[in-house]
Amino acid sequence: MRFLASSIERMGCQTVVLAPERSRVPAAFRRICSDDSLHEILIASMQRMRGGAYVYDGAISRSELTDDGRHRQRIDTYSWHLLTLNRSGIVCGCARMRLHEDEVSFADLGVRNVPLAQSPEWSVRLRRAVESELAEARRKRLWYAEVGGWAINSDRRGTVDALGTVLAVYALAELLGGALMIGTATKRHNSAPILRRIGARPLVFDEVEFPSYYDPAYGCEMEILRFDSANPRPAYMSWLAEIRERMAGVPVICPSQTVSRAVPEGFSVATSSSRLRAPAPATTAELSMRQASAG
Ligand SMILES: CC(C)(COP(=O)(O)OP(=O)(O)OC[C@H]1O[C@@H](n2cnc3c(N)ncnc32)[C@H](O)[C@@H]1OP(=O)(O)O)[C@@H](O)C(=O)NCCC(=O)NCCS
Repeated sequence: MRFLASSIERMGCQTVVLAPERSRVPAAFRRICSDDSLHEILIASMQRMRGGAYVYDGAISRSELTDDGRHRQRIDTYSWHLLTLNRSGIVCGCARMRLHEDEVSFADLGVRNVPLAQSPEWSVRLRRAVESELAEARRKRLWYAEVGGWAINSDRRGTVDALGTVLAVYALAELLGGALMIGTATKRHNSAPILRRIGARPLVFDEVEFPSYYDPAYGCEMEILRFDSANPRPAYMSWLAEIRERMAGVPVICPSQTVSRAVPEGFSVATSSSRLRAPAPATTAELSMRQASAG
């Protein structure tokens, strides 16, 4: 079962987690680095890769990218990001998770904007279903999280990366304390079926599944899925355990405003990127890309 994470590493890839501003990094993570510049560089690299993938699919138009090719979304600032970096330190896989505080309501969530939320038939049921999920998360003392922004660079498709990224999101959520998660997934590229196969379930209200719907914003058929970080399908439990163990040791890059967690005894928190293995060469490569595009 050690196959999955080690196959990704054998291909020269490294996993990195980005923490959002003003967040608390749980003691479960062993390698924390506070570095604004590295955080910004990796966010930019992720937004370029994701932007390229979404434009190629026609999910967004080129005009929605910044001049330097970035697909910038406000939610990125408030989210945890799970990134895979290639040998050159460029992002080649990404997913995002926004954790919400207890007081969050349906009106604060991205899911309020899906077309079903405007449908006379489904809107009330959708709000009630999400409210029921929020109540369950509070009752079980779990985070309620929105997941999204999943993309794998074209040269890494058809590999273990897709499965690895999704399981790493489950593992990240578990290390953050456990979460009930919601996300919208396209049927394009088999995305929704891949997620269902791993453990995502359609959102349900009164035992009725919400139907898939066409989203004109992305030009594709989509589904609303919910995930419980502690419950992927049983077949993935041992992979999840393996990945969770590895994830605890991956670099967590924080912006400097992030509230660092209490340092566990016998461990010192890294304060510069010098303790990181792979991102260091990326810094130079990406800085020069950024300077070139700025100049
Ligand atoms: C969606 C996306 C991340 C999927 O990645 P992908 O590499 O294209 O996914 P694939 O279907 O090729 O799956 C990769 C491999 O993992 C396997 N796999 C997928 N899910 C699996 C699972 N649950 N268990 C075991 N293997 C699995 C697949 O069978 C495939 O292997 P194969 O080629 O030998 O059959 C990628 O296509 C992408 O970035 N698309 C553009 C952006 C996008 O649409 N994002 C989704 C938003 S919801």
